[in-house]
Amino acid sequence: MGALRWWTRQSARCDNAAEVPSLEGAVLRGVKTVLRPIEETDLALLWKWENDSELTYYLNADRHRTMSMDEVNRRYRQIRGDPTMELFIIETQHGERIGMLGYDNLSLERRSCRVYIGIGEKGYWSHGYGSDAMRALLSHHFTELQLERVYLSVYDFNDRAIASYRKCGYRVDGVRRNVALVDGQWCDSIEMSVNATDFQRQNHRVASAATESHD
Ligand SMILES: CC(C)(COP(=O)(O)OP(=O)(O)OC[C@H]1O[C@@H](n2cnc3c(N)ncnc32)[C@H](O)[C@@H]1OP(=O)(O)O)[C@@H](O)C(=O)NCCC(=O)NCCS
Repeated sequence: MGALRWWTRQSARCDNAAEVPSLEGAVLRGVKTVLRPIEETDLALLWKWENDSELTYYLNADRHRTMSMDEVNRRYRQIRGDPTMELFIIETQHGERIGMLGYDNLSLERRSCRVYIGIGEKGYWSHGYGSDAMRALLSHHFTELQLERVYLSVYDFNDRAIASYRKCGYRVDGVRRNVALVDGQWCDSIEMSVNATDFQRQNHRVASAATESHD
């Protein structure tokens, strides 16, 4: 998982802040991807992705949602100042920036957090990068942070994301019906989560499949 440097970030807002290790400067490594905490020099790219109508369709069920550079800057400062959230840039092994992967609501008491992901460079969709990046973050969450549960929401029309999450061990917890109107049709939000045991089991399956394909 690379050389992680841990130290404590302070926050007046968060009860468990004293115990939350900082990821500043740390890098998480997958097989195809590298995750590093977002830096100021990434904000123009983040702005581009946040204003891509296809991406906002999948992320927010809204093709017309836009984000100003001011909002992007505000969000960046909020993430930097709050130990319960982090946003990573997903890079290929060749250093190309292809997407973002974040978490918030980190609670060391409940041992859980919520995650979200977007591969902004669309040529990289369906080539295994999203699942690889997610596995790298989950591995960090379940081993270093000893979390028990990681959860997310996904719209029911997002079959590729649901398939990717299942590959990482996520299962459906429930459905929130009719949360957004898209092209005149109500869509549901699927609530999914993965726990430490599911993740280990799924990792074992992926490793066995890789070994068999090499035999
Ligand atoms: C969702 C996302 C992160 C997944 O990452 P990815 O790298 O594209 O996904 P992966 O290649 O790792 O896995 C996708 C799987 O879905 C499958 N898939 C692709 N399109 C599909 C479809 N229409 N229906 C069902 N499965 C589909 C792929 O074949 C692949 O499975 P396989 O490896 O068994 O063949 C990425 O596509 C993305 O950022 N999409 C846009 C934003 C988004 O949807 N974010 C998530 C919001 S909740």
